Amino acid sequence: TAAAVFTACTIGPGFSDSSVFQPKAPPAFDTPLPIPPLADSRVDGGTRVFSLTADEGQMEFTPGMTTPTWGFNGDYLGPTLRARRGEKVAVEVTNKLPETTTVHWHGMHLPVAMDGGPHQPIEPDAQWRASWRVDQPAATLWYHPHPHGDTEEHVLRGLSGMFIVDDENTGTYGLPAQYGVDDIPLVVQDKKFTAGGEFQLDAQGNEVGLLGNVILTNGAWGSVLDVTTELVRLRILNGSSARTYDFAFDDGREFSLVGTDGGLLEAPHSTDHVRLSPGERAEIVVGLEPGSETMLRSLPPDLGNVALPSAYGGTDEFDVLLLRAADALQPSASLADRFAPVERFAERDADYERTFEVQNREINGLRMDMNRIDEVMQIDSTELWTVTNRDLFPHNWHVHDVQFQVLDIDGTPPPAELLGWKDTIYLEPRRQYRIMMRFEDYVDDDKPYMIHCHLLLHEDEGLMSQFVVSKSEPSRNTEPSDGGGG
Ligand code: C2O
Ligand code: CU
Repeated sequence: TAAAVFTACTIGPGFSDSSVFQPKAPPAFDTPLPIPPLADSRVDGGTRVFSLTADEGQMEFTPGMTTPTWGFNGDYLGPTLRARRGEKVAVEVTNKLPETTTVHWHGMHLPVAMDGGPHQPIEPDAQWRASWRVDQPAATLWYHPHPHGDTEEHVLRGLSGMFIVDDENTGTYGLPAQYGVDDIPLVVQDKKFTAGGEFQLDAQGNEVGLLGNVILTNGAWGSVLDVTTELVRLRILNGSSARTYDFAFDDGREFSLVGTDGGLLEAPHSTDHVRLSPGERAEIVVGLEPGSETMLRSLPPDLGNVALPSAYGGTDEFDVLLLRAADALQPSASLADRFAPVERFAERDADYERTFEVQNREINGLRMDMNRIDEVMQIDSTELWTVTNRDLFPHNWHVHDVQFQVLDIDGTPPPAELLGWKDTIYLEPRRQYRIMMRFEDYVDDDKPYMIHCHLLLHEDEGLMSQFVVSKSEPSRNTEPSDGGGG
């Protein structure tokens, strides 16, 4: 039997505070894991059209406690959108919230006007239609609001969902592929509640942002997945605003890491843990014996390189999801040894190079300014970026529009889990990451895409910069525009 270990009250000053909800006991892990429904769609003139409505709601995450929430097409989180490479899709987003929001398709390659960043606001009662052709490998992407300065709050209130892209290889390689049966989306979020049951939305001075003492999986606290097949695939999204997890099983069992942010790895990587910082995804395949149980946990993550204070989440350990196998399991196909090749960039492929220094809430000494374009990329060019975390606390690095590859970390080739496509990468303190990416298909000199730290407090406070993809020569504006910068 999996021990339900629960560590609370270790993470910062807020936790001795009687105004904060303190769980009296660990959860029982007996609530069936909710599976976000696959979103309905209609096909209209060759376009698959989805509808999302952001609205207020309420949830009872624990009996007797009511929490006001926000959700898409429901009280909390949103349905899973799903489309195939090559398909034209449109999403009609209606905002029924009392505030302006946006919806960003995290990890998606699309025209900037459809990106749903801070420059595509949706006012209360307004509708926004994003449409594009899906053209990237099968992957587990997601969507969430991105209004400048308010992203953390909108995400913490509950606005997030998954976007699964399929391609010609979907259903092959022996990968479990029955949604909700053996192919399970898993949105993992930590939450902190007030004594009255409302979400805490304020990081209360913690450098990395809000760290919660309750872990929700698909919006449930302490849930169980009834496994009916020999192998199960978990598509894990770290949907938290600040916390980095190190996912593992309580019995130390090995599993196969099969995919990262932008798609499948070239081959399954056998491991017993995987670290995910906010916004990152991992697809894993794990096998259970009939009648057995195992607990997906988060071990204290190795935040890297320097000893970090526990207030940054370094010492927390959580049970996340109980997997409970039936006495008789349906046979699963065996997992292929190799998937499609991932063609790796080489340093010599770089047409242009850039450096990015991340410190406090600044990139290269500048905070986000909606009116300043920081970087101009040239269409059809490959870039090599050197990204350094100058701080003694965690950051991560997310780039819109593209998936990138890690060339090296402090000069060392990346570990197996970083050999695939990534759109977000954890930046260990005082390390230097070289990453490569290619800009193609969409030119727009006007509205920018974003580069930012996905620790949402940092993003909101300005650790973000703006780039356009242009036909002209690449350039950089490191001078703040009038009145900007700061
Ligand atoms: Cu997931 Cu710019 O964000
Ligand atoms: Cu950061």
